[in-house]
Amino acid sequence: MDQKELEKELAAKEAVKAVKQNQIVGLGTGSTAKYVIIELGKMVKDGLKIQCIPTSNKTAELATSYNIPLVDINMVDHIDVTIDGADEFTKEKMLIKGGGGALLREKIVASLSREEIIIADASKKVDKLGKFTLPIEVIPFALNYVQLQLTALQGKGKLRQLDGKPFLTDQQNYIVDADFGLIDNPPALAEKLNQIEGLVAHGLFIGLATRVIMGIGDSVQVFN
Ligand code: A5P
Repeated sequence: MDQKELEKELAAKEAVKAVKQNQIVGLGTGSTAKYVIIELGKMVKDGLKIQCIPTSNKTAELATSYNIPLVDINMVDHIDVTIDGADEFTKEKMLIKGGGGALLREKIVASLSREEIIIADASKKVDKLGKFTLPIEVIPFALNYVQLQLTALQGKGKLRQLDGKPFLTDQQNYIVDADFGLIDNPPALAEKLNQIEGLVAHGLFIGLATRVIMGIGDSVQVFN
């Protein structure tokens, strides 16, 4: 296993310690969150009783393959703890998410969670967000309108493609990856993006993460 994968696995192993018997658990999406699913799969096999809410169809499939019980998000009024990855994070626990295109469900699950634990390898830590282009989920009807609004905010948006066609999210929406350069004031940009009609979610997660666990070398560093 290469260093990055080891760091992801270490962070995941540390994060699952927060999961307790009979809890409702949010499952993130991506190559880091995958390690959480593997660990929880082992814990369920050993008798842990949990009900999980996946943040994507892909995660639902993976969790099912490990016999992790799932529950419909509309059947619960809270989530005890969610463990998810991120594309970038700062020491203030501001994040960019959505590299895998699951940002809308990830944000809803994070918003319903009492504890949102982000796990990452050391390459994800940045002083300022924005080197990773910001994923933005857009209703197809609003694509041009949203692109114009992003341009007005000095962003350069690019429609995400897969196999020569627009990438579609689990909600059948598009993703625009927007380059704002390094973002001086993420909360202010998030506020402006929130005002755009047809933009259903952006990857700036502000005030949602309660803890970031970063794998670094052969140990972990925690940002509370
Ligand atoms: C999925 O939409 C994302 O928000 C992921 O959580 C993020 O892209 C991190 O993915 P990796 O763990 O694969 O880097």
